[in-house]
Amino acid sequence: MSDTYVTDTLIAEDIDAYLVQHQHKDMLRFITCGSVDDGKSTLIGRLLYDSKMIFEDQLAALEDASKVSGTQGQDIDFALLVDGLAAEREQGITIDVAYRFFNTEKRKFIVADCPGHEQYTRNMVTGASSADAAVILIDARKGVLVQTRRHTYLCHLLGIRHLVLAVNKLDLVGYDQVVFDAIVADYVNFAQAIGISEFTAIPISGFKGDNITSLSPHTPWYSGPTLIEHLEQVEIDGTREAGQAFRMPVQWVNRPNLDFRGFAGLIASGTVKQGDAVRILPAGTTSTISRIVTLDGDLDEAQAGQSVTLCLADEVDCSRGNVIAAASAPPEVADQFEASLVWMSDEALIPGRGYWLKLATQSVSATVKPPKYAINVNTLEHLAVKTLELNAIGVVELTTDKPLVFEPYAQSRTLGGFILIDKLTNATVAAGLINFSLRRAQNVHWQALDVSREAHAAMKHQQPAVLWFTGFSGSGKSTIANLVEKRLHALGHHTFLLDGDNVRHGLNKDLGFTETDRIENIRRVGEVTKLMSDAGLIVLTAFISPFAAERDMVRAMVPPGEFVEVFVDTPLAEAERRDVKGLYKKARAGTLKNFTGIDSPYEVPLRPELRVDTTSESPEAAAERIVDYILGARSEAWMPTI
Ligand code: ADX
Repeated sequence: MSDTYVTDTLIAEDIDAYLVQHQHKDMLRFITCGSVDDGKSTLIGRLLYDSKMIFEDQLAALEDASKVSGTQGQDIDFALLVDGLAAEREQGITIDVAYRFFNTEKRKFIVADCPGHEQYTRNMVTGASSADAAVILIDARKGVLVQTRRHTYLCHLLGIRHLVLAVNKLDLVGYDQVVFDAIVADYVNFAQAIGISEFTAIPISGFKGDNITSLSPHTPWYSGPTLIEHLEQVEIDGTREAGQAFRMPVQWVNRPNLDFRGFAGLIASGTVKQGDAVRILPAGTTSTISRIVTLDGDLDEAQAGQSVTLCLADEVDCSRGNVIAAASAPPEVADQFEASLVWMSDEALIPGRGYWLKLATQSVSATVKPPKYAINVNTLEHLAVKTLELNAIGVVELTTDKPLVFEPYAQSRTLGGFILIDKLTNATVAAGLINFSLRRAQNVHWQALDVSREAHAAMKHQQPAVLWFTGFSGSGKSTIANLVEKRLHALGHHTFLLDGDNVRHGLNKDLGFTETDRIENIRRVGEVTKLMSDAGLIVLTAFISPFAAERDMVRAMVPPGEFVEVFVDTPLAEAERRDVKGLYKKARAGTLKNFTGIDSPYEVPLRPELRVDTTSESPEAAAERIVDYILGARSEAWMPTI
């Protein structure tokens, strides 16, 4: 107490000395959690009082309200100091986490006071996601409660490595060791079941001040540290991050003039030095650090926690959302994940819907599959559920539209934690923690290849293209595509035709004709098409491809202008009249289900590059027109009718 008093005097006498003294102290962020009456406010009030963070007039008011005076903190109702906010919460005025600051001789502290009720799970997540330690309060008279379990589970899930079990109100059970030991034993069982390897249990009384800053004479059977002693020596997260591989998510590109181009961001982990080899993800390109610029001049070296602008030796592509990382130890890149979600919205999760996903400085669109299970945090049971409701915690698989640079949350809070945002309301609906990627391609990095798609195309003396034929079964897609390929081939072009009936005998033989299977069919064909066009080929595809969204998805996979949608516009009645394979007859008879045009939809292309009306144009004439278009006249050929 007297030590903190000295620093207070220093503020008045020598502000510079005070600042220097404080600059070199590190800072511990911790949260306090517990049920409503566990004595949280009293404990926080006590910590503030003991570290002289209370002004004299506040103290006088407290003594007044507690009907005592000059008692050196004895019998003061400290809860009054912090309860104003709790009252506000109950009235629904604010539900923010309250952050309080205090310091001791050794350390600075920020304590996040998280409300106990289940409806404040969201606040708890906010407070816990940046905390190094958690003090979980238990009322000695009540023991381990549902809320104790829930909070412990969340703290562990959110990666808090240092848990303190503060068994409070010990004065009310006569400082009885038996009570304390029984509570600890009960808690050990739960902690072990969720994978917590260690925690520190301290018997305290926030109200009386036992074992807070000095060891209590009432608990001679306890020989561990006081709460403050313990919090003063807990390892701080930054220390761990500094020792990991270098990563910096790029916040913005700093380009004040043509001579300077730097990438600004906050270093998430590791150290970076001038001359270090780095990799820019997700692209995978490499370069070297040429300068480390800050407002206070250039640095030779910078580390986790510092905001810097990095300049690279090469003119590589790099923009907001990219991650600059140690070249030899880059993070993973993937677009499918298993993650744990804490659902925080009144509107339940809608599997299959697109949400915005924000992870560090990256923003992508993500869809969530129906949950694998939800967790009953009290019993740790896995529950079969179709969705996640408010405050539910579950494990899901999700897919993003673009690759994400990430690390499992257990390894990095910055690159493993994300939020989901409702695209319509812009509200944050969930906090997520990446467990691992599903692409089974962990450790597979996108290799920036030297023989580029341009080089492939140049050797073939052609411009790659994707001729995407779409239309009803029996509309003539395969017939026309086949003619087009023959002509292009005769003219010396390198082509390949992917045909629905054929691909479904091999690559996609596991797929049927449900909506989901058709989507997967086109997704795979899209990926193959993209690879083949990267190889410099003119790719022709003949698939019904009934959904506009998937046709557009493939369009977006290749460079602009390369995707040519050819709508083989044969009316259903005409295709059915021809019925080349006899399938329409079966579909009408009801022996073939999900048949496009009969009992499965076809979404007509609204802006195809080319349209063929097979009732008025012969397959040969159509093929010639398509070949003309693809070999140069792409822009002036047929204008789409809308
Ligand atoms: S897509 O809808 O997923 O694009 P795809 O072009 O691969 O379909 O396959 C369509 C071909 O499969 C048709 O030309 C037809 O020969 C055959 N087929 C068998 N069952 C069906 C069905 N239920 N609906 C449509 N085509 C079917």
